[in-house]
Amino acid sequence: MTIRPFILHLLFCATMVCNVHAAEPAGNDAATKVEVTPLGEQMDRMNGAFRKLRRQAEDVTKNESSLAYVATMQAAAEVAVTLTPVLAADIPEAKRAQFIESYRTQIRKLIAGLEELAAAFKAGDNAAAVAVISDLRGIQKDGHHDYKKPDQD
Ligand code: HEM
Repeated sequence: MTIRPFILHLLFCATMVCNVHAAEPAGNDAATKVEVTPLGEQMDRMNGAFRKLRRQAEDVTKNESSLAYVATMQAAAEVAVTLTPVLAADIPEAKRAQFIESYRTQIRKLIAGLEELAAAFKAGDNAAAVAVISDLRGIQKDGHHDYKKPDQD
C-alpha cells in the first residue's frame, strides 16, 4: 500500500468510528441505567411476588398465599397498562402511538394470564397453575424483548 491510499484508509476508519458513536442514543450511560422508572417500579413489584409464587406454585396448602401474590401482580399490571415504556421515546413519532398500543396489548395478555392463574389456584388445580406460570414467563420474555430497552434492568 502506498502512503496516500493508506492515509485515506485511516481517515475513512476514523470517520466510521465517529459515526458509530454519534449514532448511539443519548442517555445511555451508567447514570441512567440505575434509574428506576414508574413502570420499572411496578415491574419490580410484580417480580418480587412472581419469584415467591413460583417457588410454592405446586404446593396446594399454600394456595391462599399464592392467590395473594397473584393479586399483587394483578394490581401492578393494572398500573403498568397505564404507563409508557422508556423505549417509546426512541420510536419515531409517527409510530409511537402504535408502539404504545401494542405494549398495552401485551400487558393485557399478562392480565388475562393472571386471571387464569387465580382461577387455577381457586380450583385447587396446581398443575394448571404451573402451566399458566410457564405461559406468563413467555409473555414476560416477549414483552421485554419488544418493549424494554436493553439497559432498563
Ligand atoms: C411476570 C411478568 C413480568 C415481570 C416479573 C417483569 C419484571 C421486570 C423487571 C424486574 C424489570 C426491571 C425493573 C427495574 O428497572 O427496576 C422490568 C422492566 C420492564 N418491563 Fe417487565 N416484567 C414482566 C412483564 C412484562 C411485560 C409483559 C412487558 C411488556 C408488555 C414488560 C415490559 C417492561 C418494560 C418496558 C420494562 C422497562 C421499564 C421502562 O421502560 O420504564 N414487562 N420488568
